[in-house]
Amino acid sequence: MSSEPRILSIANAKGGVGKSVVSIMLATALAKEKNKKIIILDCDSQGSITDMYETEKEVYGEEYVPLIEVEEITARKVQTFIRRFGGDYDYIFIDVPRMTDKKKDNSTVMLLYNCDSILVPIVGNEVDVLSSFDFLTLLEEAKNDKQDMDEPLSYYGFINRRNQRKSNEEAEEAMKKEGMKMFTNSLPDLKIFTRPSFYTSILDTAEGERRFRDFYEEFKKKFKIK
Ligand SMILES: Nc1ncnc2c1ncn2[C@@H]1O[C@H](COP(=O)(O)OP(=O)(O)OP(=O)(O)O)[C@@H](O)[C@H]1O
Ligand SMILES: [Mg+2]
Repeated sequence: MSSEPRILSIANAKGGVGKSVVSIMLATALAKEKNKKIIILDCDSQGSITDMYETEKEVYGEEYVPLIEVEEITARKVQTFIRRFGGDYDYIFIDVPRMTDKKKDNSTVMLLYNCDSILVPIVGNEVDVLSSFDFLTLLEEAKNDKQDMDEPLSYYGFINRRNQRKSNEEAEEAMKKEGMKMFTNSLPDLKIFTRPSFYTSILDTAEGERRFRDFYEEFKKKFKIK
């Protein structure tokens, strides 16, 4: 492989909205369906992705060959990693930590500048949406800065856990009004997420097939993933 990898992130300034689980599900679905070489760079010191990945390996035992790779790495080292090893991968997903303060979290902001596609999970109540507004401003800035350098950045929002909170519908309206392009498909609360080994098999289970497939198809279409 010699061409440049596509770099994606499932990101939001807000914590606990599903960034990590959605990253690992989409990365794995893509690896499985398209037989692509994919790595997730786990830049969150909580190591959620790394934990899920290790659990998966334990559940399946020693002979199990994971469909994707995961690397725990600090934000500051990401650019060097991409420069040196990016050519080995078709897709690199970056799991970006939540942000407390845009200025303080400058290295996190810079992670977003590495991406060409960003998907923003939104779980709504008034306060959540307010921080997503700020995040939208940040994305728009990144998009403009990158455009100046002929590097496109596209981003979309989607409602996560739609059936859990009624306020999610208000969140969707509010985000659209602010100019956020939203996925038509959302993700409901999936029972499958509570299983330790959910993501490898997400598209093979009845629930995954039914609820995740449309979202996954839209993800590929909107981000032009062939
Ligand atoms: N669609 C969903 N259905 C069921 N559970 C979900 C869904 N999305 C997220 N969750 C659950 O919500 C919790 C938070 O998800 P996750 O850790 O992916 O969020 P995060 O945005 O990465 O959080 P952090 O900011 O801490 O990194 C997890 O327990 C996850 O299983
Ligand atoms: Mg996370």
